[in-house]
Amino acid sequence: MVDLDPKLGRRAALEAGLRDAIRAGRLRPGARLPSSRILAAELGVSRGTISTAYTQLVSEGFLVSSRGGGSRVADLATGGAEPKNIGPRSEKEASALRWDFRPGEPDLTSFPRSEWQNALREILRTSPASFLGYQDPQGVPELRSAVADHLRRSRNLAVDTENIVICAGFRQGLDLICRVLRDAGTRTVALEDPGLADHHRVAGASLNVVSLPVDALGADTQQLWTSSAQAVVLTPSHQFPLGVRLHPDRRAEAFAWARRTDGLIIEDDYDGEFLYDGGPLGAMQGEDPDRVAYIGSVSKTLAPGIRLGWLVLPPHLISPVCEAKYLSDAASGSFDQNVLASMLRSGAFATHLRKRRVAYRQRRDHMVGMVAERVPGATIRGIAAGLHAVIELPAGVQAGWLQRSAARRGLGIGNLDSYRIAGERADDAVVLAYGRPPSHSFARGIAEFVDLVPG
Ligand SMILES: Cc1ncc(COP(=O)(O)O)c(C=O)c1O
Repeated sequence: MVDLDPKLGRRAALEAGLRDAIRAGRLRPGARLPSSRILAAELGVSRGTISTAYTQLVSEGFLVSSRGGGSRVADLATGGAEPKNIGPRSEKEASALRWDFRPGEPDLTSFPRSEWQNALREILRTSPASFLGYQDPQGVPELRSAVADHLRRSRNLAVDTENIVICAGFRQGLDLICRVLRDAGTRTVALEDPGLADHHRVAGASLNVVSLPVDALGADTQQLWTSSAQAVVLTPSHQFPLGVRLHPDRRAEAFAWARRTDGLIIEDDYDGEFLYDGGPLGAMQGEDPDRVAYIGSVSKTLAPGIRLGWLVLPPHLISPVCEAKYLSDAASGSFDQNVLASMLRSGAFATHLRKRRVAYRQRRDHMVGMVAERVPGATIRGIAAGLHAVIELPAGVQAGWLQRSAARRGLGIGNLDSYRIAGERADDAVVLAYGRPPSHSFARGIAEFVDLVPG
């Protein structure tokens, strides 16, 4: 039932054989797999090899493990352990997908499970009981110091341990800043359009939100002068979703506006760790730390389920943001904070990033090659960084139609129109998050996509 490829190592062969058998239906949904002890004896390998292979397939969604031990075959047709997309999107839609290229998540199967597990084990073995108590709302000092080192080195930030507040991802960071700004008298914030509607909603809970249009040079920061905004949220390294880098003139304009009007730039550096072309680009925060509140997150580098991120703040915002964080949830969880600090210090995080950068870049190049060859009428944009691309479709091909046809084939893609907030719908481009599917199904998913797009 399961063929083992002699060219592969034992574990890789077992994983590949099980994947094939499940995809081909030789192993049916719900079927129970032999215990690691029995299969190890049968194949003449260690139990550890079998357990690791099972764990990997659980993480990829091919198997589900039950509480009493044992592993069963997941139901891929109904989604098995398919990841959920962010936001209140349709569960039905998500569970019918076989290849998920919708923006939102990185490849969750690449999460460094054993590194995380090793760090957690070490922390549980060595930490005093006090680490289980209430923590400093600003974040545990070990993590703040490790994050400061990481940001100075990799993103050129001007940052000290004291400027950092640990938060539950970008969203909470944005929410805390908007609350603090409101309490200090700010009324209006500008957000990029197209952008994430969820972020407009988070900011809109505390402040009036105005749209800042984006074009081929990035956010049109010139318009800040005539808007009523006293703060602006920008994605300067890789605009979401268009993928453009903010042009130096636009960047300079944003600084000039902030200095002249006492405005605040809120820098969303959601995928700044994945820059491929165009030379290194430091964060805006490094240029003027008094005018920029920077927010980073592990949602793209590790996984959004961790809910961990960091704010790097101008001095006057540190104490009110800590107070807002304390009122919101006391502090971020100390287990995750300590594990991340340990992975940053040991180099495990940097190694993971290096590997992911190579893998995502290879995927990007594969996707670009396939689209150029098979859909010459399409134009790919926004690929110098990050985990997604915008694909402008050949004349006459409608994005809504393509998205619906793709969904019928089990292929999830984004529609650029769904990120247009006040701007007009154009129905002419899709967003392909090439970083999202597990690596074993990526190439097939891209092949399905190019197959589907006329000319
Ligand atoms: C534009 C943008 N900003 C920020 C984030 C990170 O959000 P969070 O840290 O809340 O998961 C994402 C998603 O990863 C994003 O697409």
